[in-house]
Amino acid sequence: MTESNQKEMNAILLDGKETSNAIKVEIAKEVEEITKSGRRAPHLAAILVGEDGASKTYVKNKELACQRVGFASTLLRLDATTSEEDVLAKIREINANDAIDGLIVQLPLPAHISENKVTQTIDPTKDVDGFHDVNVGKLTKGEDTFISATPFGIIQLLERYNIDTSGKHCVVVGRSNIVGRPMSILMSRNGNPGNCTVTVCHSRTQNLADFTRAADIVIVALGKPEFLTGDMVKPGATVIDVGISRVDADNERGYVLKGDVHFESCEKVASAITPVPGGVGPMTIIGLMQNTLKSYKLRHG
Ligand code: GUN
Repeated sequence: MTESNQKEMNAILLDGKETSNAIKVEIAKEVEEITKSGRRAPHLAAILVGEDGASKTYVKNKELACQRVGFASTLLRLDATTSEEDVLAKIREINANDAIDGLIVQLPLPAHISENKVTQTIDPTKDVDGFHDVNVGKLTKGEDTFISATPFGIIQLLERYNIDTSGKHCVVVGRSNIVGRPMSILMSRNGNPGNCTVTVCHSRTQNLADFTRAADIVIVALGKPEFLTGDMVKPGATVIDVGISRVDADNERGYVLKGDVHFESCEKVASAITPVPGGVGPMTIIGLMQNTLKSYKLRHG
């Protein structure tokens, strides 16, 4: 961003790229110490079933992040027609492999494979996505666990920018198991960031803008490009954009990436806002790296 652009901005930019880079350096240092002492590096395995374009990009970015921090990574690519039982068998194999600390299965899965069976087959101690019922239960009770990567990343962004959350009204738009639901639990926890009064809005919410306009912190995880506009935001609020949709465009790639927030109108009203790309996305990846390091340490001391 140029200096002149910065002056035009009303809101502080919550820079996920810069913040995640700082955390990346911290992780890389720890990994260097581990390997210098003769121990193996942390190891993340990913299973990708099928050819979904966005999923391929996410998995590639996760592999690149592993390389940058010095982790080992394994990508198991399975054909879209792979049976559910074969996917579960691969998961059990990785569960039993002592040289692997974390396992993720990229979602969504082809329709014939049960997402629930897959996430519940992953060993909870290797579930660095935090999707297993054991880890969701621990999160709900406020116990130490693997917090799923996107909510974990958002929490750390709020923390590193010293956004005051205590006693504030946080509105979470979206109730998915991956983002909205765990995010709402974290923001209401007795801790920092946390201690918010939380409202969860979703597709059946009536007069949704009345809720977002009353929020000190709005977290939008709907998957609807540019859904939240400036008129739906209270002056001075913090706006967190979790969306990242591919919208058809007349360019080389054939699409542009759009968040759930209409940035231009919201940044004039908000006091702090995440950009897309470069906001929540890089924080999600770094959250996964942190969970993998945590898993390594839990098994290796
Ligand atoms: N698909 C979209 N987000 C995620 C994620 O955080 N983890 C996995 N495994 N799949 C996803």
